Amino acid sequence: MKRHLISAADLTRDDAVLILDTAEEMARVADRPIKKLPTLRGRTVVNLFFEDSTRTRISFEAAAKRLSADVINFSAKGSSVSKGESLKDTALTLEAMGADAVVIRHHASGAPYRLATSGWIDGSVVNAGDGTHEHPTQALLDAFTMRRRLTGPDDGLGRGLDGRRITIVGDVLHSRVARSNVHLLATLGAHVTLVAPPTLVPVGVQTWPCEVAYDLDQVLPKSDAVMMLRVQRERMNAAFFPTEREYSRRYGLDGDRMAKMPEHAVVMHPGPMNRGMEITAEVADSGRCTAVEQVANGVSIRMAVLYLLLGGNEPAVATPAASSRTEESK
Ligand code: NCD
Repeated sequence: MKRHLISAADLTRDDAVLILDTAEEMARVADRPIKKLPTLRGRTVVNLFFEDSTRTRISFEAAAKRLSADVINFSAKGSSVSKGESLKDTALTLEAMGADAVVIRHHASGAPYRLATSGWIDGSVVNAGDGTHEHPTQALLDAFTMRRRLTGPDDGLGRGLDGRRITIVGDVLHSRVARSNVHLLATLGAHVTLVAPPTLVPVGVQTWPCEVAYDLDQVLPKSDAVMMLRVQRERMNAAFFPTEREYSRRYGLDGDRMAKMPEHAVVMHPGPMNRGMEITAEVADSGRCTAVEQVANGVSIRMAVLYLLLGGNEPAVATPAASSRTEESK
């Protein structure tokens, strides 16, 4: 694996499978009475958040703490950034504090790349969402959730997402979640279809490893998972659709539409949800919607990413066999 995680497109299939498999081990730790591993003791992880976040920030914090790292949470609001301090000066400050990893969310696409390639800091950089560009750990936790939900006990996790049909619906234009998912899912062998109003399909989508469709009702019966995207009003500087009602009618998921999906298919949402807009409360609260599971899986994925980027050569999770070997060698 590379030293940084900036884009899902940087991950080879082997990297991605290694992260997903490591996250499975991390998830088993969450079932133990004591949910902590000593793996990153003495290492410092800084959460550098220039944009609002609930799930992603607390998830990275929980992940770093479960690995025993020291965590520093930095949010732009209330810091010297609001006095005009630049990304460079902020980065130099973090470096002076000895950050081993910087988890960054920024409204500007490319900010994590700049941080990773500038030489301002020595540690690993993890992109926690940059503008409308990418959100690789979200794509990883989505893939983890789908792999768990769609792969039955008989076929193990080996088959993974090969040949699965994943539909991503809604505001693709402004969605870093969609971009990262398209790259990662293609790497993992899944077939991705984007469904959106023409105004919310990005220019250049022909070069992405996916198909584009405009009629949700036609695509639903062929989908193994349907990922609903939030309509990102804060990034819209124009009218992209006539009315909310019209948007929901054509691209929203309600109970009737969900019934068109195959029985095994799941509904996903990265959160935060606009209930009543892209998804109805009936669907959001149904057993087929994985939104809450995605949050729980996010912690395991971020533990895996931090461990693989920062961890030493020791196994992340001590198995009883491995610990008895260490006892014998004493
Ligand atoms: C997403 C994000 O911030 O990009 N949310 C998340 O990380 N859970 C999607 C969104 O804001 O709609």
